[in-house]
Amino acid sequence: MIQIHPRYKPKPGNSSIISIKGHEYLLINQNDTFYLMDNLCPHKQASLGLGKIESDEVICPLHQYRFNFKTGKCSVERFPIQIYAFEFMKI
Ligand code: FES
Repeated sequence: MIQIHPRYKPKPGNSSIISIKGHEYLLINQNDTFYLMDNLCPHKQASLGLGKIESDEVICPLHQYRFNFKTGKCSVERFPIQIYAFEFMKI
């Protein structure tokens, strides 16, 4: 299970890019429910943290593919994104 320090919690409707052991993740806050996915777009490696959040999706800033942060599905079927289980560290 991935452990995340609570200082990285984004505000509702926002996201944070987090690097853990050289891997970039995107942590999303939707109404104080949190989701963790890869930050780099599986299409051409744009930073999804620079994209927009709309409903349950992150929109890639480069070619506007849409990634559902609950399911990992992409608007272009062959580019699903990895979603991760995680917990906040208790401090
Ligand atoms: S780099 Fe994200 S859709 Fe192309």
